[in-house]
Amino acid sequence: AGNVGATTAQRIHQLGYADVVLVDIVDDLPQGKALDMAESGPVIGSDASITGSNGYEETAKSDLVIITAGIARKPGMSRDDLLITNMNIVGSVTREVVKYSPDCLIIVVSNPLDAMCHHAFEVSGLPRNRVFGMAGVLDTARFRTFIAQELDVSVEDVQAYVLGGHGDDMVPLVRYTTVGGIPISELLASDVVDRLVKRARQGGGEIVALLKAGSAYYAPSASITQMAEAVLLEKNRILPACVYLEGEYGISGVSVGVPVKLGAHGIEQVIEISLEDAEQAMLNKSANSVRELIEVMHAHQNRTS
Ligand code: LAC
Repeated sequence: AGNVGATTAQRIHQLGYADVVLVDIVDDLPQGKALDMAESGPVIGSDASITGSNGYEETAKSDLVIITAGIARKPGMSRDDLLITNMNIVGSVTREVVKYSPDCLIIVVSNPLDAMCHHAFEVSGLPRNRVFGMAGVLDTARFRTFIAQELDVSVEDVQAYVLGGHGDDMVPLVRYTTVGGIPISELLASDVVDRLVKRARQGGGEIVALLKAGSAYYAPSASITQMAEAVLLEKNRILPACVYLEGEYGISGVSVGVPVKLGAHGIEQVIEISLEDAEQAMLNKSANSVRELIEVMHAHQNRTS
């Protein structure tokens, strides 16, 4: 029931096609926020139920679980600084979730995103299509926003792809970025594109620096909701998402952002697009950063088990 979780719950409740349970360890907070949202139902025209709980019983038999639990960044912190604290939180949440909803799909949102997604995948014991992470939609949304502002065009006409980990070495695929179907290279000088790429990469930190306490939640919750919608409405959207790779893009044993088809069964397909050498090198670098975090987590688990 923190900022990302509660805002996501609000968006999904407002759409009206899923009943929502908001879970938090803080006494009365999820109950209070859920009741407040339920009481908005008559005004916004949503008959979906929304309740709050401090435990997981009420979430039993969920179709879709969104994990946003964890501490958030403070100014000056990188997402990686959250690693071990959030690993413990995400691990215990995942165990509870799977105990009550063994058939669910899980969208992981906690940071550092790719490492937490990987950890939830390992802890859950679920197949990889059912545990995936939200970051690519958010990173792409930021990139699309900056391009639209630069060109003074509708955000709806900007298509882009940001792959790789949700970190400072994420991989905006400039070659696959178009405005109304026109390649971005036809519309913007390369130094301008480079500036927008840089801003997208640092987009999360830009918000943290402005908010001072906590990190972004409006664009993150909108991005999660788009992924939830793809699952709940069986849309088979083509979106970037973090998923455990088994050889795609030459990468194995790491969860990292790639284009996927997202539908009723979660990751219906990992989509492999051809990358130029420089793009592949950036993706490898990003995957290696995630791999380093996974190794730190494994070493920590070995020490404490
Ligand atoms: C961001 C944080 C949530 O990118 O990772 O805003």
